Order: sequence, then C-alpha cells, then structure tokens
Amino acid sequence: MTQPDFVDILNVWDARTAARRCLPRGLFEYIDRGCEDEVGLAVNRQRLDAITLKPSVLIDVSQRSQTATILGSAQPSPLVIAPTAIAGLVWRDGEIALAKAAAAAGIPFCVSTQSITAIERIAQESGARLWFQLYVWKNRQRTLALIDRAWAAGAETLVLTVDTAVGPNREYNVRNGFGIPLRPSWRAGFDLMRHPHWTWAVLLRAIIASGVPTYAHYPDAFRTRLGRVALSDEVSLATDVTWEDVRLLRRHWKGKLILKGILRVDDAQTAASHGVDAIVVSNHGGRNLDCAPGPTDVLPAIAEAVGARVEILADSGVRRGSDIARFIALGARGVLIGRATLYGVAIGGMHGASRIIDLLTHELSLAMGMLGARTLDDLRKRR
Ligand SMILES: Cc1cc2nc3c(=O)[nH]c(=O)nc-3n(C[C@H](O)[C@H](O)[C@H](O)COP(=O)(O)O)c2cc1C
Repeated sequence: MTQPDFVDILNVWDARTAARRCLPRGLFEYIDRGCEDEVGLAVNRQRLDAITLKPSVLIDVSQRSQTATILGSAQPSPLVIAPTAIAGLVWRDGEIALAKAAAAAGIPFCVSTQSITAIERIAQESGARLWFQLYVWKNRQRTLALIDRAWAAGAETLVLTVDTAVGPNREYNVRNGFGIPLRPSWRAGFDLMRHPHWTWAVLLRAIIASGVPTYAHYPDAFRTRLGRVALSDEVSLATDVTWEDVRLLRRHWKGKLILKGILRVDDAQTAASHGVDAIVVSNHGGRNLDCAPGPTDVLPAIAEAVGARVEILADSGVRRGSDIARFIALGARGVLIGRATLYGVAIGGMHGASRIIDLLTHELSLAMGMLGARTLDDLRKRR
C-alpha cells in the first residue's frame, strides 16, 4: 500500500489546520489550547519570535550535521517527542504511531503517565527508545510500582514533571464537556456526529477492542469491568510533591532522571544538587500557569548556572526549525516537541508525525545553513 506523503502539508501550521478538521472540537481544543486567558500560549510565540540570530557569512555550509548527544546517546537531530496525555485518542493507537515516527527518526519518544496505550505495548510495537514521564500519584507505593513497570518495559529515562503542582484551569474543557473518564453528553454527541471518521476509526474501534478508552497505566484494581473508566483517589495527582520525592526517585530509579518544567535558576541548582541528569526548561506549552515566563526568557541564565552539571533541554512553542535553532542557541542541548507532532499524528498517524519531524529537521537544516552553522555547537555562537 502506498503511504500518504502529505505534499500539501508544508509546515506545522498546515498540519494544525488539517488536524482541526479531523478531530472533534473537544479533543482538538484539548491538544491545541492553553489555560485561562491563554496569555502563556501567546508569550511563548512572542518570545520565540523576538529572538534573532546573527548569521556568520562566507562559511562553507555544504556539510551540515544536526547530530546531538542527549544523555549519552547520539541521535540524528536534537528532537525528543514530548509526553502528551491521551495522544492515543488523536489517532487509533496514537501513542504507538508517535513512537514509530520517533523510532524512524532515531529520536526518543516520551510516554506519558496519562497515555491511552500501556508502555509495554508501545515498546513491543514501536521499537522506539522510550522515556517515561511521571506524574506522582497520591499513593507513593503505587507510583514506585508504576516506574518499576516502565523500567521493566524498557524505559531508559524517567521524566518527573514538576510544573503541575495542582490541576490547571482550562475552561474550554469544561465548556466542551471534555475529560477523562470520557462522559456522554449532547454536546459531545453532536461533536462526534460531525466527525464520523474519527468517531469510527478511533473511538468505536477502540471501544470494540478494549472498552471505553482511558488511562492505560492506572492499576487494574481501579477499573470497572465494562467501561474501564473508574479512577481512584489513590492514583489522582499528588499535590504534596516535594524534593523528598526527587530523592526517593533518585534512589529508586536505575536509569537517567530528568525534571521537566523548571523555570528558575534556584530550582535548576537544587535539581543539580539532587543528582538529576537533565532538566527541561518548559512552561508546559502554556497549558498550566498563564503568568509563567516563556522558557526562552529564563533559559540562558539557567544554562549559565547549571549547564556544566546537568544537561539542559527545553520546550514550549516549537512550530518551526528556526524555533529549535533559537532554543539551541540559548543553551538547550535538545528540544521537546509537543503539539506539532500531535497535529501530525491527527492527520495521518505515524506518517503524519514523520512528516512533521521531516519538516522541522529540514527547516532547522536551512536555518543552520543561513546562519553559517555546520553543527549545533555553531548555533550557540550566533546569538
Ligand atoms: C495535549 C497535550 C498533553 C500533554 N500532556 C502532558 C503530560 O501528560 N505530561 C507532561 O509532562 N507534559 C504534557 N504536556 C506538555 C508537553 O510535554 C510539552 O511540555 C508541551 O507540549 C511543549 O509545548 P508545545 O506543545 O508548544 O511543543 C502535554 C501537552 C499537550 C499539548
């Protein structure tokens, strides 16, 4: 069977427009929007746009390499697919599609605690290098059992998300009646009727195969037999997560440990003193705290303060290869991609996500050429 090549998708924005048509409104807005007044979402774009890089001219750029070494592994580009909850609703087995795209591109895929597909299946069916993102549950024993499970499935790196101390305020989800467990409503029903392809290809097929989709990593004890939708307070997100939990995870987890969602120099220093291997400078794509700074506002100072002790990764707002160049120029070693690959997966599963990765790496290559940068290290000299 010939695979779609998405020749009409020329950039991430095209994929976003197409994804909006494919997905029910409730789901599209869940992946696309921010929180509260969506100032943070706008800040991410404005701050990235405001960063200019100064080209060095008359440099032979006929051989350019985006090779990056992240946590000791060389990879062909500095990208990592970010953890995104319920990506498995965006396409049938969407997490597997994303992981396959990551494997094809030679980059890691970070599985979310709140993924629809369990890490064991993602590992088996994708062959990707897997990271596992952790939201700490109220019951710490169950939390440790979860990371043991991720380790046994082959996750090499644990990513503790530290920027979600409480549940964020996303009013559009309330208006759209969208959430997990999925609950029937008139509004959702009309939304589904307007998107029959998604309703059949994703939702109904999933229901036929294994019941109403829900978080796959939640212990079986908390599932009802029919709907698989019951959640328990034991596995709701803890609001008392502290550095003590970081110490616990550092002792318990045998692989690399990353803290995701750092925006302050002092927190980055504390992270370094706790023996974490890397941090992700991130405001969660503008989805959590609407008055947070753009990661690019704080990245240079954080890189300066702790870059010699921990690896610095960053995310939030990448829609172009030049955005990746900007993050690298400011001190990031690698960049996580959230919504961009979700738009890709929404329009064409693995092939859609691969199209986005190809576009971003192609744009990055062009930006490097224009900047007179043969390597990612050269980019750091173009600020
Ligand atoms: C739909 C969606 C779900 C997300 N779920 C998670 C999650 O479960 N855990 C997490 O640490 N970050 C989550 N994030 C944040 C991403 O990992 C990443 O930080 C963010 O998307 C980067 O911004 P970008 O979308 O502009 O690239 C989510 C983001 C989106 C868009």
